[in-house]
Amino acid sequence: MGITYMDAKKLFRMDTRRTTYLIGLSPEGYVGHVYYGRRLKSEGNSYLLRMDERPFTPSVLEREKASFLDFFPTEYPAGGVGDYRESCLDVRCESGSIGCELQFEDYRILRGKPGLPGLPASFGQEGEVETLELVCRDALLNLKVTLSYSVFADTDIITRSVQVENCGEQHLKLEKVYSACLDMDNRDLEMLTLVGSWARERHIQRGGLRFGKQTVSSVKGESSHQEHPFLALVTPEATQETGEVYAMNFVYSGNFMAQAELTQFGQVRMTMGIHSDQFCWNLRPGESFQAPEAVLTYSAEGLGLMTRNFHDFYRGHLIRSPHQYAKRPVLINNWEATYFDFDSEKLLEIAREAKKAGIEMLVMDDGWFGKRNLDDSSLGDWTVNEEKFTSGLLDLVEKVNEIGLQFGIWFEPEMISPDSDLYRAHPDWAIRIAGRTPSQSRAQYVLDLSRKEVVDYAYGCVADILHSAPIAYVKWDMNRQLCDIGSACLGRESQGELMHRYMLGVYEMQERLVTEFPELLLENCSGGGARFDPGMLYYSPQIWCSDNVDAMERLRIQEGTALIYPLSTMGAHVGDCPNHIVGRNTPFDTRAHVAMAGTFGYELDITKIAEEERAKIPAQVEEYHRYQPLMQRGDYYRLASWSDRKPYDCWEVAAKDGSEALVTFVQVLAEPNMHSRAVFLRGLQEDAEYALEGTENVYGGDELMYCGYLVPSKQGDFVSRLYHFVRVR
Ligand code: GLA
Repeated sequence: MGITYMDAKKLFRMDTRRTTYLIGLSPEGYVGHVYYGRRLKSEGNSYLLRMDERPFTPSVLEREKASFLDFFPTEYPAGGVGDYRESCLDVRCESGSIGCELQFEDYRILRGKPGLPGLPASFGQEGEVETLELVCRDALLNLKVTLSYSVFADTDIITRSVQVENCGEQHLKLEKVYSACLDMDNRDLEMLTLVGSWARERHIQRGGLRFGKQTVSSVKGESSHQEHPFLALVTPEATQETGEVYAMNFVYSGNFMAQAELTQFGQVRMTMGIHSDQFCWNLRPGESFQAPEAVLTYSAEGLGLMTRNFHDFYRGHLIRSPHQYAKRPVLINNWEATYFDFDSEKLLEIAREAKKAGIEMLVMDDGWFGKRNLDDSSLGDWTVNEEKFTSGLLDLVEKVNEIGLQFGIWFEPEMISPDSDLYRAHPDWAIRIAGRTPSQSRAQYVLDLSRKEVVDYAYGCVADILHSAPIAYVKWDMNRQLCDIGSACLGRESQGELMHRYMLGVYEMQERLVTEFPELLLENCSGGGARFDPGMLYYSPQIWCSDNVDAMERLRIQEGTALIYPLSTMGAHVGDCPNHIVGRNTPFDTRAHVAMAGTFGYELDITKIAEEERAKIPAQVEEYHRYQPLMQRGDYYRLASWSDRKPYDCWEVAAKDGSEALVTFVQVLAEPNMHSRAVFLRGLQEDAEYALEGTENVYGGDELMYCGYLVPSKQGDFVSRLYHFVRVR
């Protein structure tokens, strides 16, 4: 396992437990992509680079650069010199033209993995990860491009990133710097992506690749509700258990491009990186630019293994929070309970009732600061509203603590309301194009976080509040997308840097927060789940999945989210009924069972719900805590999908040692004259026996996996059940 270089073959080889990745060098020094897939027993060869084939058939000409490069499978295509497929690097030089030709110069193999300055990035101990750095250079520009590959053998993950350094004399402009490229032959590949909208984020979409380019992307300044920085190419037969999967996910929270391109010769190019729209980075002599990290995995055992690779990798090598495996408090959030209409008395009322029900934390959402009684003012004025809190914030927090609950608070630090003291003092702190009236969205503007003084101010506001009272949790929200991209501070030459500098500002603020308040439980959020991405997971162990807490809507949202991200990261709450977004009524138990697949909490006015529902909460809290360690560490298996036209949804979490498994079954719509349904468990030990909790029944592990467990027929829509199997022999 690990990384080797075979000099005689000019071949780099990276091995993980189940995969091999091969990189070959052409005689000119082009860095070619030879192979990524199932682990090879043979040493590997570079014949797949097809260097002896004529560029056009039946042409008599030998290799010519342009046609050769347009066919050559490459690790990192630079634009302008003959590869007409999607480029990863576009460099404009002082003469104004774009062109770059990268040739291999040197390599290094390191134990461990260096961090990426200013950016979120995966990490690992020496012994867990090795890194290959391929140094390439464009001779004319004297541009050094370092391609980094970090091999996490245990989780079948290879991460990639790129650093570009100007070693020459010219002032260069980087107009595109992607992070990863994967060339391969087409095998009727299909493209699987996550798409949606506000309140229906990350629905799974799959379809055949067509000739040309197919993309998912964001130019909104965030990873977005609509499209997701994730792309998988799968063979047609791919299911949860079978078929091949190539997947890429981007450790970045801003603009992105993820693309598959099917070319004239039946090749596929898969690329991922920062979107080139609105991007132009100045690279002066001596400067370097670091592109964010892309995470790659390959599975020959279907989507399920891809999912478990990502889950294990993110839990082990990206999420840093001490809360990751700790007991997470069951919280109650007042947003859907009160919206802006609350004061300290109302919150204390909720806290007292919540305490009786066993809930452990009160989160005060939007509306506690400035004069914010609606979403039309005060962002930026992070001082407590003294009309709502006559005795101040500390008094409220202390009273909530006395009741026996921890206290959490909502912020939206990246924003500025036109109606705010901050805006009146610093109108130039808003992102806007000089001379143009900027567009408002939710009656707000976005702070120009490319400016140090703005980052310092916005971070300082959050830190001051956290220092003023014992606050255990922060919900960090971001409720509008960016447009009118202009900064009063960046010069004419540098406006194209704003979108990325904005993200660097956000990351700096969150880094400072988790450093200064290491015990804080941070939950990221963006109008629901518009910034649910690996970049954010580096700072917060949980992210609010969606503003939609309807249990049925959540089935699809959480299925798509859990395709990549661990269950322990998915912010999920029991909501009110009828649901505030779709108006649906679902049973209280079902709402809890669905939310237990995530971080669990309540988003309703506990003082107003029916007594019989309130009476159920203590048992739900207890149940959540009982299963939480399993959900936090176990292997996730998708057993059936409502989104895939089944009348029910079903998922399982099995302990890694096969000692227990929890199955959640949700019948979406009842069907007439229907017998029990077999669900086939996974991840158990064939020769062990399992008792079904709450019954006398004992089953063989092989029975549960191969014969199936029969879920009894039920009447009623939206009904659910948990089944906990525990190994007894
Ligand atoms: C966003 C969040 C909600 C809530 C509101 C408050 O929409 O996703 O949970 O915090 O903002 O304005």
